[in-house]
Amino acid sequence: MKVNITFPILIVLFLLLDNGICNDPPRLQPISLPDMVSVGEKVITVCGVKVGSKPMTFKWRKDGSDIKNVPQVSVEVSEDYSMLSITSATKENMGNYTCIVENTFGKDESTFSLIIKAPPSWIRIPQDVKSSENKAVLFECLADGHPKPVISWMKNGNLIEDSKTGGLSEDSTNIFLNGSLYISQVKSHHGGTYTCIASNSVDPSLKSTASLTVNGKK
Ligand SMILES: *[C@@H]1O[C@H](CO)[C@@H](O)[C@H](O)[C@H]1NC(C)=O
Ligand SMILES: *[C@@H]1O[C@H](CO)[C@@H](O)[C@H](O)[C@H]1NC(C)=O
Repeated sequence: MKVNITFPILIVLFLLLDNGICNDPPRLQPISLPDMVSVGEKVITVCGVKVGSKPMTFKWRKDGSDIKNVPQVSVEVSEDYSMLSITSATKENMGNYTCIVENTFGKDESTFSLIIKAPPSWIRIPQDVKSSENKAVLFECLADGHPKPVISWMKNGNLIEDSKTGGLSEDSTNIFLNGSLYISQVKSHHGGTYTCIASNSVDPSLKSTASLTVNGKK
């Protein structure tokens, strides 16, 4: 019977493979890391093997390049693990880190991404606009940061709702996905101050105000 022959063969194969304690290619344990790190914080992470014959060599890369060129980073190597530390995280430490372990029989590698929290910073702020009626007006507002800042707008101190989210909406007024505020047909009642707010989960959030003057009136 076919089954009766296959089963013992599988057991013998399994024993042969399992017996290879002395020539195992390395396999890494999963690397654990905080989701997000703030600027100035310390980061310590360990890249350790769960199996693998000694001797093993460890290498670290960041975004594909040798880790040696990355500021604040130091590496300690032991027989079966390597520890990466960042003394005081900066924005430059954000990126993908790869730990590579190798022995005569093979290699394994593991990559994780390090996200550094950064408060919003301005790329572009709204400028004062003077317009006559029935013209189109665009207030630009753009901020950088991690996570990506969300832009919202106030008119004379009251929040303008996005047309997609409903609620209080100013006529002819749209907030574009890129954060710009667009008024398709300016009327005199559109005059006033417009404040752009850039916020993410990291303080402080930012505010910048510009005025819209219609036919000489704010
Ligand atoms: C890190 O990897 C992710 C996912 O593969 C990629 O989207 C991102 O651009 C990488 N970051 C850098 C700085 O290379
Ligand atoms: C945002 O999008 C609008 C419409 O596509 C464009 O006119 C404006 O220049 C964009 N602003 C920025 C800051 O990219």
